[in-house]
Amino acid sequence: MIVAIDGPAGSGKSTVAKRVAQQLKYNYLDTGAMYRAITYEALKNDIDIENSDALTHLARSAKLEFRNEHMGIYSDIFINGQRVTDEIRLPEVDANVSAVSKVAGVRKAMVRKQRQLAGNDVIIEGRDIGTVVFPDAKLKVFLTAGASERARRRALQLESTGEKIDSLQVQKEIIRRDQIDSNRENSPLVKAVDAVELETTDKDIEQVVREILLLIKNAL
Ligand code: DC
Repeated sequence: MIVAIDGPAGSGKSTVAKRVAQQLKYNYLDTGAMYRAITYEALKNDIDIENSDALTHLARSAKLEFRNEHMGIYSDIFINGQRVTDEIRLPEVDANVSAVSKVAGVRKAMVRKQRQLAGNDVIIEGRDIGTVVFPDAKLKVFLTAGASERARRRALQLESTGEKIDSLQVQKEIIRRDQIDSNRENSPLVKAVDAVELETTDKDIEQVVREILLLIKNAL
């Protein structure tokens, strides 16, 4: 069964989706990591972030791989043979990933790859999974949370990687990214009409995981 989990930055998608996948022994696909890897590679090769043709060419030709699978969860992402698992979380990538993922050609290449990678039983998370990548997904969940809570979660995540953070800056960055992701012309971040919306501001991870597991059980 295909389970689509969409929502804005910091809504808890990755943490929750991974746990649900582990419990059900489903595959897990983090589509944001793919846009991040393309962004990292573009920055590394000094590609102009405004140059849609160059970005499209990169997205089409880059070799993207998930490796080191354990119970359906891949711990590493590689682009053109380089492990970029940590690099894709750098602030430069955060700052540029929304601009890269606006580009129609980039999205087309990523969506094609995502459909190839998903498999039959998968928890797949992103921004356009329920609307574009798998519009026929058996279950669609749209996670939300207030901006300050999302910034708090993102800051915790960054701190855990040893990075120095300015929480106000993190909040600004999250809001800026959401604005671009929600207002872009190509597959904007929007709740699919048939998605179940879960508001998670005051819920802990375990509670959200339980709610999604129940939704999956009912959908089977
Ligand atoms: O989930 P994330 O924060 O790692 O995603 C990083 C960026 O990638 C996000 O700001 C927008 C883009 N993205 C997208 O456009 N479509 C997806 N399906 C997943 C991510």
